[in-house]
Amino acid sequence: MARLLIGVTGGIAAYKAVEIVRLATAAGHSVRVVQTASSLRFVGKATFEAVTGASVLVDEFDRDPADGAFPGDPPPDYGAISHLELVRRADAYLVAPASANTIAKLATGQADNLLTSAALACTAPLLVAPAMNNHMWEHPATRSNVETLRLRGATIIEPGTGSLASKGEWGAGRLAEPTEVLAEVERVLAGAGPSAGFSPRSLDGLRVLVTAGGTREPIDSVRYVGNRSSGRMGVALAAEAAHRGAEVALIAANLSRAAPEGVRVVAVQTAAELHRAAEAEFPEADVLLMAAAVADFRPAQAQETKIKKSGRVELTLALKPTTDVLEALSQARHPGQTLVGFAAEHGAHGLARARAKLESKGLDAVVLNDISRADIGFDTEDNEVTIITAAGEKPVPLAPKAAVAAAVLDCVEALRVQRVARE
Ligand code: CTP
Repeated sequence: MARLLIGVTGGIAAYKAVEIVRLATAAGHSVRVVQTASSLRFVGKATFEAVTGASVLVDEFDRDPADGAFPGDPPPDYGAISHLELVRRADAYLVAPASANTIAKLATGQADNLLTSAALACTAPLLVAPAMNNHMWEHPATRSNVETLRLRGATIIEPGTGSLASKGEWGAGRLAEPTEVLAEVERVLAGAGPSAGFSPRSLDGLRVLVTAGGTREPIDSVRYVGNRSSGRMGVALAAEAAHRGAEVALIAANLSRAAPEGVRVVAVQTAAELHRAAEAEFPEADVLLMAAAVADFRPAQAQETKIKKSGRVELTLALKPTTDVLEALSQARHPGQTLVGFAAEHGAHGLARARAKLESKGLDAVVLNDISRADIGFDTEDNEVTIITAAGEKPVPLAPKAAVAAAVLDCVEALRVQRVARE
């Protein structure tokens, strides 16, 4: 059983909130409802009060006999401010239906009524179930506000497609079905645990593709041309993206360590295999983190058996260039994707070379490693990088690769917010 706070905003779908509240109480949850003034035009307080067995608050100055306690809980023994006490005790805050207006207020942090003030004061997971006319849902302003909330850790319960309230209108914007809404609330509650507090899932709903490790290009049946990449940085990125709620696919080239849990792994050996796997995964990805060290050349002719040394004084290996996978993917990118490349450079002119890669490969960011230093980069636990974007450079000081991965994903999140704001 959880303490669930449900905020109801004005819209025809408010009647469906009654069913959500009914299902939640029937499932054993303790529910309190707060409403906006305009939602009262659609469903009165008395309906929610009858279903929950507790008063409904609309205004900050409403008198709450329970002083912010949930049904079944003793009221606080101090002079609590009701709506603040409600959010302090809530295990999750669901806004359903969430109108375009309330979504805009939540995105910009406005607190001009009890529902939005409570959201600002709430540290429990926030779930938002939008419902509105399809043009309002598709409007860039709403898209941007929804994306802001998602990146900030809110769970967006996507509206369904079908006939809408106004006559003849059909499209996306229908409030998700009450059973789906409750299932999503319970999924979030299971992840966060009762009263576990705020757990940022800022990449919820996004697909992140990571490449990691170093490719091996066969010379013969036992030997290969390889590189020193252990895959630690890519593994740290995959782990951090999964931790932030993303669905992660990891193309793993000869990793020296285990892939993180909860990540789908596609194992590859050579640059050509990595290219094929990346081509298959990329169209569905929202974010590409290209951390693998992909061979730039491969032996022109790999021998099927083991090359014998007998009789040879010298062996010349002819190499052929491989495809630049990142460049190829970048040429096929679609507008919503964020592409991050990695550059391993020696010393002084590294920054200029990495910036040139940002432009020539059409990337959103390049993570630069100075490989002239022995304490960072290949096969080490720590890393120190510079993240280069069109806007500038961000140095990330020496830190464990997990912390560097977090800095790279912070940058990805910022880039995505900026893009949405531009559109
Ligand atoms: N990369 C790739 N395919 C290749 C080679 C590299 O996708 N065949 C990707 C790497 O995963 C990395 C970035 O490109 O994200 C590195 O850029 P690149 O210009 O290839 O770096 P270097 O190989 O170090 O380049 P150069 O030889 O030009 O210094």
